[in-house]
Amino acid sequence: MESKVVKAYGTASAEADLKQMNINRRSVTPKDVEIDIHYCGVCHSDLHFARNDWGMTQYPVVPGHEIVGTVTKIGSGVSKYKVGDLVAVGCLVDSCRTCDNCKDDLEQYCPQWVGTYGGYDKHLDSPTHGGYSETIVVDEEFVLRVPKNLDQAGIAPVLCAGITTWSPLKHWKVGKNSKVAVVGLGGLGHMAIKLADALGAHVTLFSRSPNKVKDGLALGADQVIISTDEEQMASVMGHFDVIIDTVPYAHDLNPYIGTLATNGTLVVVGYLGPLDPMLVTVPMIMGRRSVAGSLIGGIAETQELLDFCGKHNITSDIEIIKIQDINKAYERMLKSDVQYRFVIDMKSLKA
Ligand SMILES: NC(=O)c1ccc[n+]([C@@H]2O[C@H](COP(=O)([O-])OP(=O)(O)OC[C@H]3O[C@@H](n4cnc5c(N)ncnc54)[C@H](OP(=O)(O)O)[C@@H]3O)[C@@H](O)[C@H]2O)c1
Ligand SMILES: [Zn+2]
Ligand SMILES: [Zn+2]
Repeated sequence: MESKVVKAYGTASAEADLKQMNINRRSVTPKDVEIDIHYCGVCHSDLHFARNDWGMTQYPVVPGHEIVGTVTKIGSGVSKYKVGDLVAVGCLVDSCRTCDNCKDDLEQYCPQWVGTYGGYDKHLDSPTHGGYSETIVVDEEFVLRVPKNLDQAGIAPVLCAGITTWSPLKHWKVGKNSKVAVVGLGGLGHMAIKLADALGAHVTLFSRSPNKVKDGLALGADQVIISTDEEQMASVMGHFDVIIDTVPYAHDLNPYIGTLATNGTLVVVGYLGPLDPMLVTVPMIMGRRSVAGSLIGGIAETQELLDFCGKHNITSDIEIIKIQDINKAYERMLKSDVQYRFVIDMKSLKA
């Protein structure tokens, strides 16, 4: 099918820095919306994918799945959006739409879900490319509406960091007086604190970093526990209904399981892979405690979250960067030196 060449930033191998490249965007089909990208958030998954940490990357890759922009063109059959609308795209751009998960608004668990990058664009018969680019073309069913009262750049991280923590908070029925803990204060962690706080929960942050205590409290945590301090860890044994663990690398989950209350659940969203050390089953059996996982969120749930953020005036705490600084940003992210999400101003690519 017809396509057009646009500028993007990506990499052709795991070892190379990201640099400017050209990619093809399909012409709009009857159900498509073309979006001029204003801002794109930088997720730790972008770094994992660019560097093939998960062993599944096909190159070249153009990362980016926290996209905000305006509609510049619509297909003949588009009914939800018009030219000029402020819209967003998250981690998903398509799914089969007929399986049980799709019917239940759980497109993220569809066996044929199409990622915003690293997926398969059936129209172009080529890989999908993400938001580190001038434009993107997406089926209107996978496009989201952005509340007008919120800062455009600040809302971008809601599309991944926000929904990835919101979905388990809702699934495990967090509400007023729930006791929630968040492990790791980065992009996902800071959104988890804000969202759990807005839902009325009592929120605890587990962090390795004593220099983040003040920020954790300012973001909405009621207390911060330094995870390397045994006395502090002992003070919260048997305490939490839900723990959201956002740490990106293999780490010991066992010390956290004992801090769950009876029937509590530790939800891993950060690390993808075999655990090291292994789980000790004793605290799970002795307290009917669970360890679970969760992947992003569905389209309807993401729209619900955007609307919730509009109502409660919630955005991400961000540092705006130029696309030319993306490689430096990745290095800073590896050192946990982000307060608390980088967002790329895509004007820097168009200049
Ligand atoms: N499940 C999903 O659907 C989904 C969606 C999006 C992202 N993810 C994944 O979630 C993870 C977090 O993403 P992010 O963008 O929030 O990353 P991030 O901004 O880099 O934050 C991660 C935080 O984890 C802590 N941390 C980092 N390395 C650690 C280590 N080796 N041991 C213990 N703690 C460590 C740090 O917090 P402290 O300094 O406070 O300890 C850090 O700020 C990534 O692996 C990403 O791929 C999953
Ligand atoms: Zn992400
Ligand atoms: Zn499906």
